[in-house]
Amino acid sequence: MPENLIEKTKSWVQARLTEAESGHDWWHIQRVYKTAMHLAKSENADETTVALAALLHDLTDTKLTDRAEAIEAEIVAFLQQIGASASLIEQVMYIVRNMSFRHSAHFTGNKTIEFQVVQDADRLDAIGAIGIARAFSYGGFKKRPFLNFETRAEAEAFFGNSNTDASTIGHFYEKLLLLKDMMNTKSARRLAEERHIFMLRWLDEFYREWEGEI
Ligand code: ADP
Ligand code: NI
Repeated sequence: MPENLIEKTKSWVQARLTEAESGHDWWHIQRVYKTAMHLAKSENADETTVALAALLHDLTDTKLTDRAEAIEAEIVAFLQQIGASASLIEQVMYIVRNMSFRHSAHFTGNKTIEFQVVQDADRLDAIGAIGIARAFSYGGFKKRPFLNFETRAEAEAFFGNSNTDASTIGHFYEKLLLLKDMMNTKSARRLAEERHIFMLRWLDEFYREWEGEI
């Protein structure tokens, strides 16, 4: 792997994320990068493409910026300037453009193994202990209640039919608990299963305390 390309990209991305909120800050990028490299090895994906795409994957997210197209052009110019080849740039940009959760729900194009790995790594960061932390951080930012029901039974009856009550626990039913079945690769599915089981255990404890059981 050309370490030089990767180190330069890390510094460039980090410098751009000094003001980012905690769900998509440099620590998120670093976690996704590490997980993606781990998956790339077990899935035999091209490590350079995965590394660069993982590092760059959130810069153009339309939730985070209204100048996604301009930033795309800046990324391409940066990659050219550090000496990435045209085909590497094409592979990386294909992933960066198509990867977010919202896009991917409608995405019908070809998912290269590198695309699959980076998307899995990003989705893994939304579940497990970190996923729970991110959800409550987002909920706090939006001033959302943890839960809008007094009991687990009422909550689950509601979430069984609908999932849009704008509470943070609601987000588990709307997204977090669904992610394990959306993994592309076998290696990610195994990790997702573990994180999923942890979230279920955490939910058991959450509801127990919520209902005031001592
Ligand atoms: P992505 O990381 O795929 O870009 P989002 O930007 O939608 O996903 O979410 C960033 C983080 O905030 C994720 O961990 C996600 O679960 C969390 N999040 C997004 N929407 C909500 C919500 N309505 N309630 C709680 N957490 C949320
Ligand atoms: Ni991300």
